[in-house]
Amino acid sequence: MTTPTLLILPGDGIGPEVMAEVRKIIAWFGDKRGMAFDVSEDLVGGAAYDAHGVPLTDATMEKAQEADAVLLGAVGGPKYDVLDFSVKPERGLLRLRKEMDLFANLRPAQCFDALADFSSLKRDIVAGLDIMIVRELTSGSYFGEPRGIFEEGNERVGINTQRYTESEIDRVARAAFELARRRGNKVCSMEKANVMESGILWREVVTQVHQADYADVELSHMYADNGAMQLVRAPKQFDVILTDNLFGDILSDCAAMLTGSLGMLPSASLGAPMENGRPKALYEPVHGSAPDIAGEGKANPCACILSFAMALRYSFDQGGEATRLEQAVESVLAAGVRTGDLMQSGDGNPASTTEMGDAVIEALNASL
Ligand code: IPM
Ligand code: MG
Repeated sequence: MTTPTLLILPGDGIGPEVMAEVRKIIAWFGDKRGMAFDVSEDLVGGAAYDAHGVPLTDATMEKAQEADAVLLGAVGGPKYDVLDFSVKPERGLLRLRKEMDLFANLRPAQCFDALADFSSLKRDIVAGLDIMIVRELTSGSYFGEPRGIFEEGNERVGINTQRYTESEIDRVARAAFELARRRGNKVCSMEKANVMESGILWREVVTQVHQADYADVELSHMYADNGAMQLVRAPKQFDVILTDNLFGDILSDCAAMLTGSLGMLPSASLGAPMENGRPKALYEPVHGSAPDIAGEGKANPCACILSFAMALRYSFDQGGEATRLEQAVESVLAAGVRTGDLMQSGDGNPASTTEMGDAVIEALNASL
């Protein structure tokens, strides 16, 4: 078998720092578990703009299409706020999602026991929380046409279009049901069928897919606004939440904050299987580029490390090794190692980005 290829796109802000720790982890799996990866690195976001005048070059896009998995750090920063919309760092990420057709965005919101007190909610509401949000990622109001800012009479009008085809809903619904079967076997689908036709169609198609092929999975429907409320009221009622691109953007931020630690949350964006059977895939932490602490060695590398764990599970069929890595991270937390984002003032000295990465490596060594 040929060595699987990994394309690393560190991006901006803390992206390069957290990715440096992931590279250590990748090397560890090569040395200690005989899992070699052919790793290459390239630019995305502001870093690509600085070098090439675009947030993602065609050449990088092509490499991403060919890679067995793409690992991305973060994009954006205040320096780029002045740029034209078409070359903003975020456009690089959106191009990757769209052109790789990564329609299923998996965003786990898991509350690590050692961190339950960091949530803004009470411990008993979040302790043990384990939700998976499946967000549709390549359609809906992020991409629907018509879009733009147009002249209308003597004023301008800004337009985006919420648009979903049956097949777009069908494929992401299947992804959610498949995942649910491997977890708590429950899917709650969220839309606004009370006010939007796209929501009515969403509910119909999800119900059809369920009846045809996944009747063994428990399915419920919720209006997305109620879903947001339920997420902060009683989040443990959920297992898999299935929702569209824009609602998913908002609901996943909400779910992330329940866990109290944005610095811990990974994500996977998956598309259709490639010729070798692996899905097109991009893995990235949920957090952003955190320009305020970039370059200071303060960033928490765990979300990016856990994103690599998701790559092991979903791209390379190494669920056991993924669990090994996840447990290593958990044991580091349980031992009290903390980057600054996981501490309250007066808690003592935070671990640096590198120290946190080293602690995970040590925990991996201990797992052998
Ligand atoms: C996310 C982000 C992106 C989005 C931005 C950076 C384009 O908020 O991944 O949730 O809106 O999808
Ligand atoms: Mg978002």
